Amino acid sequence: MKLFLDTANVSYIREINDLGVICGVTTNPSLIAKEGRDFKEVVTEITSIVDGPISAEVIDMKAEGMVAEAKELVKIHKNIVIKIPMCAEGLKAAAALTKMGIKTNVTLIFSAAQALLAARAGATFVSPFVGRLDDVGAHGIELIEEIATIFNIHGIETEIIAASIRKPEDVTACAMAGAHIATVPYETMKKCIDHPLTTQGIERFLKDWETVPKK
Ligand code: E4P
Repeated sequence: MKLFLDTANVSYIREINDLGVICGVTTNPSLIAKEGRDFKEVVTEITSIVDGPISAEVIDMKAEGMVAEAKELVKIHKNIVIKIPMCAEGLKAAAALTKMGIKTNVTLIFSAAQALLAARAGATFVSPFVGRLDDVGAHGIELIEEIATIFNIHGIETEIIAASIRKPEDVTACAMAGAHIATVPYETMKKCIDHPLTTQGIERFLKDWETVPKK
């Protein structure tokens, strides 16, 4: 399973990209709004940091408008992926963009049927939201398993981006469930790095090293 960073904060993106663990970034209108900066300016900066798929979301709710927005966004960089909300107009837009050779990420997926339809419309990626399902008492990981099973059985090439990740355990559970990618928020990525026994181990090694006779 590959890892993307789920943020529009360029400082976070630079820091995590330097670790060599991510190969893409996802943004959404809420993440962009947090930055208080121009949308295209932020996305352009992200493309200069990470050499991989960068999801930028359209906001028009009509297929025609989504396609028009997408055509503008892909002018920014070859790595731009058009993020489209799951709905009838979104499917129509995904199908049209696929025919034009433009990559899409159909987002806000909460059922396997939605994922199947998005894949059949030609989506490059689908984004099932694990955490938001867990929040309402459902099981996000089960959705990842279902989609992975369906895509495997039917030889569907659309990649599953497990989204709405809240904790390190979600990351590993998504990997076990068959997600191709997990898009991980900065704070969760940092938590994945640390472990109290690692910190303790480093401290012990350094302390013991002080007792080694030096010539
Ligand atoms: C990414 O593609 C999604 O927009 C994001 O993971 C949603 O996360 P949230 O449910 O924490 O807002």
